Amino acid sequence: MGSNVLTETERLIITEFDVSMAECVHLNSLDEDNRNFVPDEVFETVQEAEETIGFLMECYKGTEGPFVYPVLLKNGENIGYVQAVPIGDQWEVGYHIAARYTRNGYASEALEAFLLVIMTRLGIERIWGVCREDNRASRRVLEKCSFALVSCQTGVYHGQEHVVCKYVYAL
Ligand SMILES: CC(C)(COP(=O)(O)OP(=O)(O)OC[C@H]1O[C@@H](n2cnc3c(N)ncnc32)[C@H](O)[C@@H]1OP(=O)(O)O)[C@@H](O)C(=O)NCCC(=O)NCCS
Repeated sequence: MGSNVLTETERLIITEFDVSMAECVHLNSLDEDNRNFVPDEVFETVQEAEETIGFLMECYKGTEGPFVYPVLLKNGENIGYVQAVPIGDQWEVGYHIAARYTRNGYASEALEAFLLVIMTRLGIERIWGVCREDNRASRRVLEKCSFALVSCQTGVYHGQEHVVCKYVYAL
């Protein structure tokens, strides 16, 4: 494994960002599902993606996060990311797989491997998964990765009122 590689699965490499990924990150982020479900993770320009990547690369050096890692196919194609984001003194996972690569099991394959590594690194025994009730694909990913449903309640999510489902994963 290269020095910046976090972990590998049968089909995927989970690694650290570098600035050369800005164009892929910009293009991957423009999906309709991403716009709909996670609008604050859409980068309208390569420059916006570059700035965010710069920030995220700095975050690797600290302990506060967010910790976001690109997901690559073994041929190097950048297909999305997995992340651990602090919420108070707890942590929450997040993920995006670009639309043209979805429904191949990539998000669940990446998340399953990521959970083990990131929870060990952070020294935590549980982590949250939070998504809109109508985000069926995301809920399915959490369920496939053995997250347990804790609640589904109306709340503010990305600035709008939605039914939000909270899941937890415990080692
Ligand atoms: C959610 C997302 C990461 C899923 O990526 P993926 O690589 O397709 O995920 P997987 O293939 O591992 O699993 C998806 C599961 O959802 C199911 N699914 C996909 N779309 C669905 C839909 N509209 N309704 C019901 N199930 C759906 C798939 O069939 C699959 O389940 P299965 O393996 O039992 O058949 C991807 O769609 C995405 O990035 N969406 C936009 C960003 C986002 O919503 N992120 C999460 C925020 S909480």
